[in-house]
Parts: sequence; C-alpha cells; structure tokens
Amino acid sequence: MDSLPRVSRQVTLAAHPEGQLQSAHFTLVETPLPPLGPHQVLLRNRWFRISVSTRLMASREAKEIKGIPFPALKPGDALADAAIGEVIAATPDSGLQAGDTVLHSLGWRDYAVADARQCTVLQRERLEPAAYLGHGWTAYAALTRGTHVNRGDTVFVSSGAGAIGSMAGQIARRLGAGQVIGSTGSPGKAEWMKRSLGYDAVIVRDGRPIVTQLAEAAPGGIDVFVDMVGGEQLTAAVALAREGARFVILGALIAELNAEGSTSIAPTEIDSFQLPIKGITLRGYSACEDDPGAFDEWMQRLNEWRHEGTIHLPCTTFSGLDNAPKALQEACAGRLKGVVLVEL
Ligand SMILES: NC(=O)c1ccc[n+]([C@@H]2O[C@H](COP(=O)([O-])OP(=O)(O)OC[C@H]3O[C@@H](n4cnc5c(N)ncnc54)[C@H](OP(=O)(O)O)[C@@H]3O)[C@@H](O)[C@H]2O)c1
Repeated sequence: MDSLPRVSRQVTLAAHPEGQLQSAHFTLVETPLPPLGPHQVLLRNRWFRISVSTRLMASREAKEIKGIPFPALKPGDALADAAIGEVIAATPDSGLQAGDTVLHSLGWRDYAVADARQCTVLQRERLEPAAYLGHGWTAYAALTRGTHVNRGDTVFVSSGAGAIGSMAGQIARRLGAGQVIGSTGSPGKAEWMKRSLGYDAVIVRDGRPIVTQLAEAAPGGIDVFVDMVGGEQLTAAVALAREGARFVILGALIAELNAEGSTSIAPTEIDSFQLPIKGITLRGYSACEDDPGAFDEWMQRLNEWRHEGTIHLPCTTFSGLDNAPKALQEACAGRLKGVVLVEL
C-alpha cells in the first residue's frame, strides 16, 4: 500500500471564461488523495472525455440544469466527465479488485477516489475507449427512442461531425435512411464527413443561407432532423420539413458555443404554422434522462456493426492531462472531429 499515490493531479476552473476559452481559465493542481472509505476504490485514469457542455458549465451564469450531468462550476472546482480507469486499490466491501477496468465519471484528473457503486466494470480485452466514452449511444437512443427512422427517409443531422453527430449520421443510414445530410463549419470537415462517415451531402456554415443549401441538398424535403445546434439550422429544417417530419432536439450549440459567451438560451424563429400544416413533431430529448437503458442495446448493435465493418468510431485523442484544457478549447472552436478523448 505504501507505493500507492498520495496525490491526484486534476484540472480546476481558475476563472469564469468571458467569450472564447483560454488556457488561463484552467489550472492544474495537486490534491491529497483521501484514505479509502466504505465501498471506495482508488482509480488510475487511462482515458477521459472532453465535452463542450463543460464550456457552458464554466460560465459565470451557469446553473444546475436537469438532464445535463454536469454541475455548474465555480473557480477552484475540479472539472469532471466520463472516464475509464484501472482499479489500483479497493476496499473489501467494494466488490472490485486491483486490475479491474471501470467506467466512471471522475475524468479531468490522473487518480480518483470513487464509489464502486458508481463504477461499471468493463471487459479489458475488448476495450475501445471511444465505444464507451463516445456518444454513439446518445445518437442511437435518439434515433430509436427519441424518434424513429423509416426506410428511405431523408435525415438531416446538425453538427454532423461532432461527438453525437458523427455517430448519428452513420446510425441513421444503418437504420434505413435513404439520404443523410449533415452540417459543419468548414469545407475540409465537410469532405471528411462525406468520405469517412458516408454523408450524401453536407451544409457548411459559411455565410450562405442554410435554407438555400438544405433545399439544394434535399429538394424533396426532410423526414427526420437530429438537431444539436438550433438557430438558423432549425429554422431551415422546419421550412424544408416533409409531411409528418419528426424532429429530435438534443442540444443548442448556438447557445453553448456562442462566440460572445456561453449561454443556455437559444432563441430561434420558426414558422410554427408549418407544424400543424405538415404534422411535424418536435421532441426535446435527453438520452441519459429518458432512456439510460438504451446503452446496453447500443453496445450489442455496435458490436454487430463493427463486426460487419459498417461503422466507425470517429475520435480525436490528446495525450496527457496538461493538454486537456487545450482539447476543450479546440473542441469548442470547432477544430476537432468525433468524440474528443484525453489519454493518460
Ligand atoms: N440530449 C442528450 O442526450 C445529449 C447528450 C450529450 C450532449 N448533448 C448536447 O448535444 C449537443 C452536441 O453535443 P456534442 O458533444 O456532440 O457536441 P459537438 O457536436 O461535438 O460540439 C462541438 C462542435 O460544435 C460545432 N460548433 C462550434 N461552434 C458552433 C456554433 N457557433 N454553431 C454551431 N455549431 C458550432 C463545431 O462543429 P462544426 O465545425 O463541425 O460545425 C464543433 O466541433 C450539445 O448541445 C450537448 O450539450 C445532448
């Protein structure tokens, strides 16, 4: 036991960001690790996820939001997110043992003391970090529970290169979509989305009206909209919706990643008369609140699709805890693809 670490290095919020994130908004601190209490385990983290929601939760106005599994942060608070770690010490009543690999929620640090009852044991030999830490399951739950895809549907995915979006486009196709359209911020990412994720067309936020681009990509209209962005993209999707179109709204990146400062308010103008005229359904959906049980079904489907070689797990990986704030900065600036992980 003497060789066990006594301190954890963790990233804390140094100051609430105003506008764009900078490295000065974070500090790497050393904190003594407490002795293990009942049911507790000491974990050495191997990977953790970077979520753009952290940007919103770091803002001065952040409040606890039901359905978002991130607490509002104040200066001095340690950041946290989903992580995969190895058990290096365990109390007898924890049910875990040294060498176990677990999924837990105390990322953004190298060592963590966690409650074993909040940890999920993973099979080490088949470990793909992006399968467990990625948002494939969120996209799968949204497309199978939040709404559904009919064979031949035209599906539009906003932020289609992001953590959820990069999986939603691929999953929609596997579920029978005829045409899959995505949106992104740059032509380079648009090319990658068509080449690597199988999008038929990609709309770029380059100043051209989104509604014009969407009408060119889907002249017959859209049946399903998986929306992570809101704003002009939601307005355009309503304008281009077909009879009986189904919208599943997962987030509002125009608010969270607003260049002038992150906010939880995303005002959007839509032609609401189209909803009754076309019988459009708009559903706000949170996978972890509404359907946490979808995770196991997703892992089974993912295994089948991985076996067939018909699905990718897009991921950008940074190395080392010191680079975690940079990873969050780059993710919020739109420079990364897929889920963003830090490997320790
Ligand atoms: N409902 C749920 O169950 C659930 C679960 C997790 C997360 N969420 C929410 O879903 C949304 C997407 O989450 P995610 O983790 O997958 O994020 P993400 O799409 O990976 O977000 C990062 C991407 O957002 C895009 N972006 C940056 N600034 C933007 C702007 N001003 N307007 C539009 N897009 C911008 C950039 O991509 P491009 O450059 O490619 O556009 C960037 O790479 C978030 O709002 C998140 O809070 C919902």
